[in-house]
Amino acid sequence: MCIATERDHERMFERLDAPFGAESRSVDLSRPLEPATVSAIRAAFLGHAALVFRNQQPEDAHLAALGALFGPLETHLIENSDGRIMSAVHCITNFDSEGRPSARPYINTNYFWHTDKSYLAVPSLATMLHPVELPPAGGDTQLAHMGMAYAALPDVTKEKIAGRRAIHSLEFMRESLDNPPPTEDQKRNAPPVSHPIVRRHPETGEPCLYIGMYASHVEGRPVAEGRTILARLQEQSTQPPFVYSHRWQPGDVMIWDNRCLMHRGVANYEMDRERRVMKRVCVQDPAGQVSGSAGPGHS
Ligand code: OGA
Ligand code: MN
Repeated sequence: MCIATERDHERMFERLDAPFGAESRSVDLSRPLEPATVSAIRAAFLGHAALVFRNQQPEDAHLAALGALFGPLETHLIENSDGRIMSAVHCITNFDSEGRPSARPYINTNYFWHTDKSYLAVPSLATMLHPVELPPAGGDTQLAHMGMAYAALPDVTKEKIAGRRAIHSLEFMRESLDNPPPTEDQKRNAPPVSHPIVRRHPETGEPCLYIGMYASHVEGRPVAEGRTILARLQEQSTQPPFVYSHRWQPGDVMIWDNRCLMHRGVANYEMDRERRVMKRVCVQDPAGQVSGSAGPGHS
């Protein structure tokens, strides 16, 4: 049995060479996690927003166990191209509906900046990926820190968006990205919802932008004006000082905090010839609905 000491915890995670994020080369997710390791993982998750565990060979149960440290695992609303509903540990791929690599996969939405399930009243707390098949190069995942991005906004922008809410909609996203429209069932289960544009991270208290491809417009403002505001915020918040580009290595497990990060896959590989298959787990937010920030001066 491995008894972790204080020094082990200090050494368990190292900052990435990036604006945020940390990695561990010592945690083995395929072994039962000691309580001290669990505390270190939880603390590092809040402190660094994204954690990478290197050199893992996890079974689905180990990925599920890591996710369950943060909340209940999500079952999924969205079906695979074969019509089956995704299970809690599922795969995402760059395959078309015939199962072939494609530059235009069945669902290509993960290649646009977003935060998972922001079209629901209670969006995902965390998302985890683990590569099963990687292209020879590329197929990166980018994360953008919405707390850092908010902090860097000019005061005049902070004032302009203070207390404002955006409408997030699955149907809007599918339409704007020219994806298959949601089914009647999906529309019933996921009608458009409104979230604060500046959300307060429920655990760290940090004010963070909450936008992305599901954000359709700003509540109470003309649609076109709202879209312009959201597009500008997205451009500002995905600048290099706020972004970590994760270059996948076999054996990586990465989990990130959707409450303060946006993410997207990067199409920097031969999508129509090379296979990219990732195991994926989403964690539900036990804290429930998204709360807003009191705005500048109250952070
Ligand atoms: C996701 C996602 C990005 C990627 O799994 O939710 O957006 O790099 N993935 O595949
Ligand atoms: Mn996603």
